[in-house]
Amino acid sequence: MKALVAYYSDTGNTEKLARALCEAIHFENEIKSIPEIQSADGYDIIFCGFPVQAQSVPRKAQDFIKGLPAGQKVAFFSTHGSLRGGQLPRQAFEHAIGLASKASVLGHFGCRGQVRQNIIDALMKKPEHKAWAEEALSAAGHPDSQDLADGKKFAQEMLAKMSR
Ligand SMILES: Cc1cc2nc3c(=O)[nH]c(=O)nc-3n(C[C@H](O)[C@H](O)[C@H](O)COP(=O)(O)O)c2cc1C
Repeated sequence: MKALVAYYSDTGNTEKLARALCEAIHFENEIKSIPEIQSADGYDIIFCGFPVQAQSVPRKAQDFIKGLPAGQKVAFFSTHGSLRGGQLPRQAFEHAIGLASKASVLGHFGCRGQVRQNIIDALMKKPEHKAWAEEALSAAGHPDSQDLADGKKFAQEMLAKMSR
C-alpha cells in the first residue's frame, strides 16, 4: 500500500492540513507540493488538497487533478475562508470532482483557513469576492487543533473505504 498526499498551498494553511492527514496514514506514504510532483502513477490512494480560490480550484491544482490516472482512488481536502459545510466551499469540491472524471473519488473534507486582514479588506470591495470575504473575517486561527483532528479522522475514513 502506498499513499500520496498532494497539496497546493499559497500561505501554509492547506499544507498544515496535509501534514495532519499524513500523520493518520500508517503505511508507506509521501507528501508533496503539487508543483514538485513529476508523476502521480503507482499510488493506491491520493489525497489531493487545495485552498478554495474564487469559489473554485486554483489553476495548478486543476491541472494536477485533470491528469490523475484513470481509476485512481482520490480523496479531496481543502481550506477556505468561508464557513465550514456551507454552499460556498462545496462549489469548489464539485468543480474538483468534475475535473477528476476518470478517477474514483472517495470523499472530501474542508475546513477553514485564515486569510490576512489586508487581503480580506481588498477583496471585500470586489462584488465577486464579497460573500466569502465577509465570512472569512472569523476564520482567524484556522486550521486549529480541532480542524486537524477532524482532518485525521477523515483520512482514516477514506482509508477504511478504500480497503472495502
Ligand atoms: C485570492 C484569494 C481568493 C480566495 N478565494 C476564496 C473563496 O472564494 N472562498 C473562500 O472560502 N476562501 C477564499 N480564499 C481564502 C483561502 O481559501 C484560505 O485563506 C485558505 O486557507 C488559504 O490556503 P493556503 O494557506 O493553503 O493558501 C481566497 C484567498 C485568496 C488569497
